[in-house]
Amino acid sequence: MPDDFTVTPWEVKGKVDYDKLIEQFGTQKLTDDIKQEIARQAGELHVMLRRNVFFSHRDLDLILKEQAEGKGFYAYTGRGPSQAMHIGHLIPFLFTKWLQDKFDLDVYIEITDDEKFLRNQEVDLDQTREWSKENIADIIAVGFSPDKTFIFQDTEYVRNMYPLAVKVAKKITFSEAKATFGLDASSNIGIIFYPALQIVPTMFEKRRCLIPAGIDQDPYWRLQRDMAESLGYFKAAQIHSKFLPPLTGPEGKMSSSVPESAIYLDDDPKTVERKIMKYAFSGGQATVELQRKYGGNPDVDVSFQWLYYYFEEDDQRIMRIEEDYRSGNMLSGELKQILVEKLNDFLEKHRAMREKAMKEINIYKYDGSLASQMWKKVHERGLSYSTIIFLRRVCGSFPPLAISLSSSSFMAMSNSLLANLTWGLSTSSIAATNSGIIRRSCRPFAKTASLFWKS
Ligand code: TYM
Repeated sequence: MPDDFTVTPWEVKGKVDYDKLIEQFGTQKLTDDIKQEIARQAGELHVMLRRNVFFSHRDLDLILKEQAEGKGFYAYTGRGPSQAMHIGHLIPFLFTKWLQDKFDLDVYIEITDDEKFLRNQEVDLDQTREWSKENIADIIAVGFSPDKTFIFQDTEYVRNMYPLAVKVAKKITFSEAKATFGLDASSNIGIIFYPALQIVPTMFEKRRCLIPAGIDQDPYWRLQRDMAESLGYFKAAQIHSKFLPPLTGPEGKMSSSVPESAIYLDDDPKTVERKIMKYAFSGGQATVELQRKYGGNPDVDVSFQWLYYYFEEDDQRIMRIEEDYRSGNMLSGELKQILVEKLNDFLEKHRAMREKAMKEINIYKYDGSLASQMWKKVHERGLSYSTIIFLRRVCGSFPPLAISLSSSSFMAMSNSLLANLTWGLSTSSIAATNSGIIRRSCRPFAKTASLFWKS
């Protein structure tokens, strides 16, 4: 029988059966053992782990093992910018911030202004760049460390990622991309290349990367895991979340393009109240009498689900709300009112943080300690920009060589040096490679010199 739900990076339809999704995607269920190990290492369990909002993973056990062995790991997540972020989008960011605090992690956040532009015919690039700025402020407002977080926009940082992106792209055939992302002959060639750019940040450091994200992003990581080791990197680990349901019912996911399905981060208190009272799908009975007699169903009630996901963090209180609602002690209107208060409280704090964040965007993008290090890196086997500068300086003391050595020769020399460090190649093979490059690079200079002497 075909599934009555669909989950892709661009669409979530129907009532998602998360156990079935684990089977379909070939991921692992987040077990109590793993959660206990997280609690042991972190000192506590995040509310979204206690409530199974994060429910599935790949290699999280390995991450925890490597962390215990002192190897460490880093976190990577992202956002395809849109006009306004909704409260569902915050789930991976809130959780990633918690991980950063608990494990002192470097965090990389990709803003895919390119993806959003390429996916939507009616959207232009200036728009997605403007949205990026607004969305970045919302992400910073979650409270990430300014010196351990790098937020990068694809159309800006692409130069640093490009060498590795082409290597990644070369490993993906069009038929794999078609099968994985549902592309076809009418897809523009930009969106066919795009997956390489979402994969590159899983290779930003020479240690394992953990990706906290909704499970809709999983297709990218399946491709990543097929190729990472052949390029000399680690297979990325993931921790997957469920979707915050839309206001209008328990099916699908909250969507930016359907205003009545979402609470946006910039909705004012009156709008929040109006939307919840008008649209929030209720698991309650048709009348007060029936509700008192039979009680409501919190499993489908969107107000309850949102409180359960993270707006009511107190476990005792959420249990009491659930019991009261099931037993008929609590009416739908009362439940909605609790949510309105919780949401408005949350959004008020968010707005204050956001205002401050607007002034800090450059720190996270360019000037913070991790950000400024990242701008010096060209991603290709971790080759650092400072290595290139160093080689330029060395050659600078012999100007003809500096003039005739092209950038690609520099890259080739640096790479061969780096290969020595990384792969343990013999020094003589490095010397042979580099002397070849130098000989070839000096040829034009020798020619010019001989012409000069002849004249
Ligand atoms: P985007 O912008 O569609 O979504 C950003 C993140 O939010 C999650 N998400 C949700 N989580 C819970 N409930 C919802 N209703 C809900 N809606 C969205 C998504 O799963 C995602 O984690 N291509 C990506 C951008 C990206 C990225 C990444 C995402 C680039 N690199 C690495 C995650 C990890 C995108 O358009 O996400």
